[in-house]
Amino acid sequence: MKILVFTEKPFAPAAVKAIQNVIDAAGEDMVLLERGTREDLLKAVADVDGLIVRSDIVDAEVIQAGKNLKVIVRAGAGYDNIDLKAATEHGICVMNTPGQNSNAVAELVFGMIVMMCRNKYNGTSGSELKGKSLGIYAFGQVGRNVARIAAGFGMEIKALDLFVPDEVMIQQGVTPVHEVKALFSENDFVSLHIPATPETKNSIGYDLVMSMPKNGVLVNTARKEVIDEDGLLKALEQRPDLRYVSDIKPANWEEFEKRFADRVFFTPKKMGAQTAEANFNAGVAAAEQAIAYLRDGWNKYQVNK
Ligand code: 3PG
Repeated sequence: MKILVFTEKPFAPAAVKAIQNVIDAAGEDMVLLERGTREDLLKAVADVDGLIVRSDIVDAEVIQAGKNLKVIVRAGAGYDNIDLKAATEHGICVMNTPGQNSNAVAELVFGMIVMMCRNKYNGTSGSELKGKSLGIYAFGQVGRNVARIAAGFGMEIKALDLFVPDEVMIQQGVTPVHEVKALFSENDFVSLHIPATPETKNSIGYDLVMSMPKNGVLVNTARKEVIDEDGLLKALEQRPDLRYVSDIKPANWEEFEKRFADRVFFTPKKMGAQTAEANFNAGVAAAEQAIAYLRDGWNKYQVNK
């Protein structure tokens, strides 16, 4: 059987080698397509049984083109790039690899927070994290890693996740919060870890951001779609103390940078999960999961059930 590894943003070379080893050891064939275009994907997917991607768009047209496709594994957490409905209609199993890249994303949260609190390392007097409060929005794998690291900084940690029992947070020394308003109004830092869904799209806007305490910092390593960009621009305009750091550039990032140069930071390309370790863990897990599904129908992390 053939498994296509398609990544517009390639895995680290060591991860690619490890993926190749997993597929070789199973006696299957790997087709590697890095930095490929959509046209490349449409061609390459035509005769493969499995497809491994990252944030690459797998829409109905790609699924239609994958005549032999049986499984798609998103090497990572968010699967908003995959048309689940089309996959289900074609009898294709879609899985993600939960937890495999979450530490990398959590570490970047703090990389960006510290950078912003030290005024982008420009030599002027900044501020510390110790004793400050952090609100974590969604207590999944990334949120839990963020909480673990925040404890090391000596922060007061709160989290909101209506799908996670309070006890799970309390066990980790995190105070549960039950309303998004409180999460924003009561914390110096708010870190977003919600997926992009019809319910969450544009859900973080003017009112929430305006309610943040003085010198608040909003951190987004989730998805740009969850932000109401006009609302955020307006809030940053009216509150010169607020700051926004994001691993996903807003659609109108140039305007943000032009108007609020010192108070915003965007990575040039989403890189939260872009570490050798996360690439290795997520890539190997994806290869193993694809093979397990093709061989035995193993579908523990299926997201289109
Ligand atoms: C994820 O959902 O796993 C992260 O956003 C990482 O995405 P990436 O694999 O495109 O870097």
